Amino acid sequence: MNQSDINEYRQVWDNRYGNEEYAYGKQPNAFFAAQLEKLPAGRILMPADGEGRNGVYAATKGWDVTACDLSAEGKTKALELAGECGVSINYVVGDLMDLDFPEGHFDAIGLIYAHFPADVKSKLHHKLITLLQPGGIVLFEAFSKNHIPYVTANPKVGGPKNIDMLFSAEEVATDFAGFDTILLTEEVVMLEEGAYHVGEGSVIRFVGRKPL
Ligand SMILES: C[S@@+](CC[C@H](N)C(=O)[O-])C[C@H]1O[C@@H](n2cnc3c(N)ncnc32)[C@H](O)[C@@H]1O
Repeated sequence: MNQSDINEYRQVWDNRYGNEEYAYGKQPNAFFAAQLEKLPAGRILMPADGEGRNGVYAATKGWDVTACDLSAEGKTKALELAGECGVSINYVVGDLMDLDFPEGHFDAIGLIYAHFPADVKSKLHHKLITLLQPGGIVLFEAFSKNHIPYVTANPKVGGPKNIDMLFSAEEVATDFAGFDTILLTEEVVMLEEGAYHVGEGSVIRFVGRKPL
């Protein structure tokens, strides 16, 4: 993505997060919350954390959270939510590609509905892998390439309509090649996340451990 594409994309998300309501609600994604329970708390990176429902949840569970998103409006809402929950998180506004942390800094990375344009999604995954320590865990849930009929039938379930921004299990396995796959599935799930993820959708779920 060039800078003008990024600015346009940022505007879309700032508009969505500019409302008083939390677009995807204040509760964490159910899969993320369930998987996080199984891990000892440490340092977690939440790329594309939006209004912070997942990053803030991780902080309430004792994690040291760094969130990153293009949207300054997202950051404002996330810090409000953190305040309501009595926790603090570090939230960086900017392009994930520019994140500047030492290699291997994080114990876990939570990629929840972190959809990116086709030309950057694998590059971003590869960059994020460098920030994960050996033995670190990736928790991933996002819409699958089979999601299009669901969002066509019910626009309230949300998700990209551009198939290149959606994921297949093969793509995820390729991006995270070499990881121990703890779980990799494609499932139809019922989402009730704020006003923008409501109804049945097809998702990819992945839990993987970076090799030592
Ligand atoms: C569907 S929202 C998901 C928000 C959040 N993960 C959740 O589940 O509530 C996608 C988010 O990706 C962010 N995003 C997209 N491309 C990005 C990039 N290159 N760098 C940082 N954030 C990005 C958007 O700003 C938006 O907040």
